[in-house]
Amino acid sequence: MAAKILDGRAIAARWRDWAKARVEAFRARTGHVPGLATVLIGDHPASQSYVQAKQNACAAAGIRTFHYRLPAEVDQETVMKLLGTLACNPEVNGILVQLPLPSHLDEEEILSAIPLEKDVDGFHPMNLGRLGLKGRDPYFIPCTPLGILAMLQEAGIPIAGRRAVILGRSRIVGLPMALLLLRLDATVTICHSRTPDLATVTRQADLLIAAVGRPGLVRGEMVQPGAVVIDVGINRVADSQAPRGYRLVGDVAFEEVAAIASAITPVPGGVGPMTVAMLLVNTLKAAQRQLEGFASPWLEDGL
Ligand code: GUN
Repeated sequence: MAAKILDGRAIAARWRDWAKARVEAFRARTGHVPGLATVLIGDHPASQSYVQAKQNACAAAGIRTFHYRLPAEVDQETVMKLLGTLACNPEVNGILVQLPLPSHLDEEEILSAIPLEKDVDGFHPMNLGRLGLKGRDPYFIPCTPLGILAMLQEAGIPIAGRRAVILGRSRIVGLPMALLLLRLDATVTICHSRTPDLATVTRQADLLIAAVGRPGLVRGEMVQPGAVVIDVGINRVADSQAPRGYRLVGDVAFEEVAAIASAITPVPGGVGPMTVAMLLVNTLKAAQRQLEGFASPWLEDGL
């Protein structure tokens, strides 16, 4: 069986257009241009390129960006002061602090300082908690899990009643992905670095989501025939033939797994572009909620 390739670039382009049209309509209605503040601490090369991609996508969609770049040695108090200022700035509808943070900073305190209604990444503990609770919507759903949901919906892949296995329990992907799928009535298992006999667990999955940052971890024999495989890994591996000296590979051994799965996301061009597109969606909704009173965190039908 040859898997259907879930083309994140194409799906993300449609969501970017969706957001752009609504940003323009919102501006015409309210006179306000949605604004996103990005905070990048230190000089992690991948983080720099992710934040740049987010800023470019915002600019193309008509969303204003306010960028704050802080040195790796910045102290906690300075970061907290900046967040306090951004929290009060009415031009700033969304606040994104790029992760990971340098290890001397208190991530919990920093993410908790973002007001719930500006938490477009959905990483505030209250937003994460609400994500898992039926009947208690979060203000925002984290962008990568939301982007994966958009891809599954677009491909007509059912979630309720399916067995989902998630590799990784990070705040950015694994944990919110698990909460989201649980809420959508999947039977969810989370695996991590202490899980023994990974293959026995992954072979049970109808839906397998790999988000651990280990190149090629998921091999063909770990996948149930016909499973849907979502690869969230974006790993740089050295390649002297590549223009930048590295190439990007996922957590899944693509060729092997594509021969077994029913659908698979490529790297690059799979989940990555969806994360950026969902940030636009969440930022638009932040502005709508702040100026017009209501915005659902869920994806609208029809895309
Ligand atoms: N680091 C990797 N992915 C993300 C993301 O979606 N948001 C933030 N803030 N940091 C990240």
